[in-house]
Amino acid sequence: MRALVVDHTSPGHLSLTDVPDPRPAPHEALVRVEAVSLNFGEVHTATGPELPDGTVPGWDAAGVVVRAAADGSGPAEGERVVTLGEAGWAELRATPATLLGTAPKDADPGALSTAPVAGLSALHVLRRMGPLLGRRVMITGASGGVGRYAVQLAARAGADVVAISRNPAQADGLRALGAHEVHPEPAAVRQPVSAVLDNVGGQHLVDAFASLSAGGTLFSVGRSAESDVVLPPDALLGNEGRHDRSIRTFFLLGDSTTVFSADLTWLAGELAAGRLDPGISWRGPWTRHSEAVQLLLDRRLHGKAVLEIG
Ligand SMILES: NC(=O)c1ccc[n+]([C@@H]2O[C@H](COP(=O)([O-])OP(=O)(O)OC[C@H]3O[C@@H](n4cnc5c(N)ncnc54)[C@H](OP(=O)(O)O)[C@@H]3O)[C@@H](O)[C@H]2O)c1
Repeated sequence: MRALVVDHTSPGHLSLTDVPDPRPAPHEALVRVEAVSLNFGEVHTATGPELPDGTVPGWDAAGVVVRAAADGSGPAEGERVVTLGEAGWAELRATPATLLGTAPKDADPGALSTAPVAGLSALHVLRRMGPLLGRRVMITGASGGVGRYAVQLAARAGADVVAISRNPAQADGLRALGAHEVHPEPAAVRQPVSAVLDNVGGQHLVDAFASLSAGGTLFSVGRSAESDVVLPPDALLGNEGRHDRSIRTFFLLGDSTTVFSADLTWLAGELAAGRLDPGISWRGPWTRHSEAVQLLLDRRLHGKAVLEIG
C-alpha cells in the first residue's frame, strides 16, 4: 500500500511511498482510508528529528471497512467508519473496535476525519467540567481544531462561551459556532469564568487561571504558545472569592482502556447531520501534503487540514 512516511532525506521530512500492508490482529478491522486530518502535534513530531525514517504517522482517519475483525467485534465489511490510532496516513489501517466509530454511509470522510483527536479531546474535557448550563466557559486557542469543536459543544451544552483568538478575522466565525464573547487574549476578559479549556499555555494559561471564579478549574490541554507558564506570586492566593481553584492536566490517550467507539459514532452522526461544523480550512489530495503541513507548521491554518487519500 501507499503511505505518507517520515523521510528525513526529503525537504519536508515526509514522502509518499510503498510500505507493507498492516496485518490486523484478531480484534482489529482493516479499513481502507479515504481521508485523514492533520493535528499540529503529530505534524510537529513527524517533521522533527524524533521519529526514524519509514515511520507512518497519523492519528485521525476515516474510511470504509474492507475486512471486519476476525473475532467478530466492531463493524461489518462495507461500513463507513472514523478511526483513532497510529499509522493513519496510509491507504489501509488496522483498528480495534474501541478506537472506531461508525458513520452514516453518505457521510463526508473528510469531515469525519476531523473528529478523533480534536472532537474527542473537546468532548472529554467538557464532560470533566460537569454540567455547563448557564455557566461561563473560556476556550483558548478557540480558532484551532480542538477549539472549534469545544466552542460548539460547550454552546450546545448551554454554556456562555468565552472564546479567545488572537486573530480578529476569526471572531465572526467563532460567534457563528456559538461563542457569546470573543476576546484577543484571556487578560481582556472582565467577568470571571467557571471553567477553562486551555489549548495555548504560557501567558494565556496564567491569565485564564486568574479569571477563574471560586471552585473553578482550568483544564490544560495544549501548549500552542510553546512558552513557559510563569505564575506571579499572588496567582495562587485564594482570597477575594477565588478560593478552591485548580489546574488539571488532560491527555486524550492517557488511559489505554478508554473505549471511544460510542463518542466517535456520536460525533460522526452530528457531523453527517450538519449539526457540527468540522472546521476544515484546507482540503486537498495527499500528494499535496507538504503544502498543508507547511501551512500548519507556520500557524497559517485556522481549523483542520484534510488530506484525501487515493
Ligand atoms: N492533551 C491532549 O490530549 C491533546 C489533544 C489534542 C490536542 N492537544 C494540544 O492542544 C493544542 C491545540 O491543538 P489543535 O489541534 O487545536 O491546534 P491548532 O489547530 O494549531 O490550534 C491552536 C490555536 O491556538 C492559537 N495559538 C497558536 N499559537 C499561539 C500562541 N503563540 N499564542 C496564543 N495562541 C496561539 C491559534 O489561534 P489564534 O491564532 O486564533 O489565536 C490556534 O488556532 C496543541 O498544543 C495540541 O498539541 C492536546
